[in-house]
Amino acid sequence: MAARNKNLGNAKKAKKDEFYTQRVDIENELCHYADHFRDKVVYCNCDDPVTSEFWQFFVRNFKPWGLKRLIATHYEPDAANYSYSLEITEDTNGDGYIDIHDEPTVKQLPCNGDFRSAACIELLQQSDIVVTNPPFSLFREYVAQLMEYNKKFIIIGNQNAITYKEIFPLLKDNKMWLGYGFDGNIGFFSAPYEDYAVSSNHREGLIRVSGVMWFTNLDIPKRHQTLDMRGNYYRGNEEKYPHYDNYDAIEVSKTTEVPGDYYGVMGVPITFMNKYCPEQFEILGMTASADTMDKPVQLGEDFIQVYRSQGGTGHFSANMYGVCYYDQDGKAKVPYGRILIRRKDKKEGED
Ligand SMILES: C[S@@+](CC[C@H](N)C(=O)[O-])C[C@H]1O[C@@H](n2cnc3c(N)ncnc32)[C@H](O)[C@@H]1O
Repeated sequence: MAARNKNLGNAKKAKKDEFYTQRVDIENELCHYADHFRDKVVYCNCDDPVTSEFWQFFVRNFKPWGLKRLIATHYEPDAANYSYSLEITEDTNGDGYIDIHDEPTVKQLPCNGDFRSAACIELLQQSDIVVTNPPFSLFREYVAQLMEYNKKFIIIGNQNAITYKEIFPLLKDNKMWLGYGFDGNIGFFSAPYEDYAVSSNHREGLIRVSGVMWFTNLDIPKRHQTLDMRGNYYRGNEEKYPHYDNYDAIEVSKTTEVPGDYYGVMGVPITFMNKYCPEQFEILGMTASADTMDKPVQLGEDFIQVYRSQGGTGHFSANMYGVCYYDQDGKAKVPYGRILIRRKDKKEGED
């Protein structure tokens, strides 16, 4: 695992899910969504209001954004009947505003606040938009529940989630997409784990986590901005974009180099999803597994033989699913997780 992803990897392994989102990151993302919130019930279901900047953000913006109701619940893993919900719906102190000076209504929950519990699901059903940073270790289940109850959401997850076989189809079928995101996809969170705050803590008191993204199903202008296709395929650059050996598509190793003169299928890195505009491209599949490929292909015996004869030591085998190619120097290559895309417009003169 790359060192950059170590913190998140560790968190998943040890189920250490206590990473607290900073106010500035919430503000930077949510400012793009204000229009969606008028008259809506917002639910932060992984948020202890004592620590959650999500709760604070929505209390501050209750009135300006015209919210109808704000609810938060949080998880108490060691106390079966302890957790509570917090709600704000009205101006309790009569000063004409709903803000942090109003007393929220506190209700005891008959459970520990697990987002999957009956009590939390009941609150989920009453809500319109769910906004939070859920536990990384339960991301698949968390998203599945939002889908099951047909909820709108803005949530934080890690970049690897794009490749999960439960998550990728939702992105491919435009049921969810990426938000504006963190600078360089790097998030800084506060967390109570001393053992993490050692090597990669580049900001005082905060944990640096690479590959962090916002996932949403609320429409945002970013989603309709087309990718500037800066590359050229046909002007003597074919070698730069090798054709896969086992799948009819070309390898585009950087999203910034998608060729503007190529109309066939292209394999692009998963970071392409950050630039994906559904009016411009269709997504055919992803090469990580047979489940996510439109036409599942394996690396094949011949390719693996060449690969090994060239000294390749990667953990690849002939029956492994994925695309492969030979580079300009004839070197056998297996690119990591490619999204297979095709532009939607047609070449001049084609139907
Ligand atoms: C990544 S932290 C984010 C906390 C908070 N949402 C924020 O952004 O500051 C995820 C939170 O989910 C909570 N959590 C873990 N498992 C949970 C569950 N099953 N149901 C609800 N919350 C859970 C953890 O206690 C943790 O506080």
